[in-house]
Amino acid sequence: MTDTLTTPEPSLQPETPLKKVFIKTYGCQMNVYDSSRMADALAADGYRTTEVMEEANLVLLNTCHIREKAADKVYSALGRLRDMKKARQAKGEEFMIGVTGCVAQAEGEEIIRREPGVDVVIGPQTYHRLPDALKKARTGRRVVDTDYAVEDKFEHLPDPTKIPGKRRSVTAFLTVQEGCDKFCTFCVVPYTRGSEVSRPLSQIVDEVKRLADSGVREITLLGQNVNGWHGESRNGAPMGLGDLLYELAEIPGLARLRYTTSHPRDMDDRLIEAHRDLRVLMPYLHLPVQSGSDRILKAMNRRHKAADYLALIERIRAARPDIALSGDFIVGFPGETEEDFADTMALVEKVGYAQAFSFKYSTRPGTPGAELDNQVDEEVKSERLARLQELLLRQQHDFARSLVGQTMDILLEKPGRMEGQVIGKSPWLQSVNVDAKSLQIGDIIKVRITDTGPNSLFAEVAPG
Ligand code: SAH
Ligand code: SF4
Ligand code: F3S
Repeated sequence: MTDTLTTPEPSLQPETPLKKVFIKTYGCQMNVYDSSRMADALAADGYRTTEVMEEANLVLLNTCHIREKAADKVYSALGRLRDMKKARQAKGEEFMIGVTGCVAQAEGEEIIRREPGVDVVIGPQTYHRLPDALKKARTGRRVVDTDYAVEDKFEHLPDPTKIPGKRRSVTAFLTVQEGCDKFCTFCVVPYTRGSEVSRPLSQIVDEVKRLADSGVREITLLGQNVNGWHGESRNGAPMGLGDLLYELAEIPGLARLRYTTSHPRDMDDRLIEAHRDLRVLMPYLHLPVQSGSDRILKAMNRRHKAADYLALIERIRAARPDIALSGDFIVGFPGETEEDFADTMALVEKVGYAQAFSFKYSTRPGTPGAELDNQVDEEVKSERLARLQELLLRQQHDFARSLVGQTMDILLEKPGRMEGQVIGKSPWLQSVNVDAKSLQIGDIIKVRITDTGPNSLFAEVAPG
């Protein structure tokens, strides 16, 4: 860290005239949540968000380090911003550049060295100190702050429902857990996000209540290892994510709950019971397995076998028969043979995914996987990925088609592209286009699915 920063108390009264911040978010939903909280922190400093980079006085790149390509994007974006900064400064306008998120955490000072235009580099645990860092940077001192702050950043951020001019949505993300202690051998997250920390129950309940009071109907609880969340009840009893869901299900106004991302090893009985008992908990679960080969799972340090995963899925489906599954897969992990890959394909066939994300293994410096010498050829990886994606896409379409003719509840989220059309969300996280003029955003209505599109469903309002 270059400079020591103090933590400002959240205040919503701007001391300076309005400035504009443009935030570009890369990576996972936790970064989406962090971007919105950074905007909250900056609102207290007189910033309003803008969707137009050219009119911003501050551009923040909230970055992702998960694969090489993700990290590379940051440096090419910074190159373009450097020119924009010169042009704006020549006009006498303030234009600052900040790098936040996981590349900031992983590369810190290196970013400042490589990119002279960058004013501040702030890690995921210290972004509540952004206003102070900017103040320092305005005096010509570039700031790198990638500490794991001793104080809890959430305690130092303003109430997200009280931000002037903040766009309201009927869905929201809420980080309940951060960091990861699992150390899968391919993954940078334990290094960029640190060890597992759970936010306390009272903080989460308060934030959910505030969001529900301000009109949010659906909340997705987030964590790199969200089902590793643990806390204490008001009378000191230990709680897990299942218990937390039972508690949040009672909050008036909240209609839907989801959570992501889970690790198979942390799917305990209580959480499965929550899927059985809670109607507000949507029947959709993102449960990455990464590979179907026990040999590769072991090399990845996933610490479960393919059969354990399949047995788990069976238990979850027994508890909630309409649950749909989603997953993540990596192809071409070092040492992966055609036989290992066939095991992955077989597992996918057995599970039947409603949605899935699949990636070619990307070597990440500093992770144990990078040390392995039996790396798989790029061409082989590409060819396997294509085969896997074809299967996954077919399953996704089969699932969507199985819903045609069915009646379901959708949460109306936003106006559609066509006049009179509204876009809602199905319980299984699909976008649903419905034609109707007198519908209210935020309502949950019954529709009948009439057709499927490439990435969405079409529906009509169900009678009665
Ligand atoms: N905590 C989550 C995943 C976080 S990263 C979990 O354990 O499931 C999101 C996904 O990125 C991972 O599930 C994995 O499929 C993928 N990923 C992570 N590191 C990768 C790497 N080095 N190369 C390719 N894909 C990777
Ligand atoms: Fe990465 Fe594994 Fe942790 Fe997920 S569980 S964040 S893949 S180390
Ligand atoms: Fe990327 Fe960091 Fe999320 S590396 S996937 S932004 S936790």
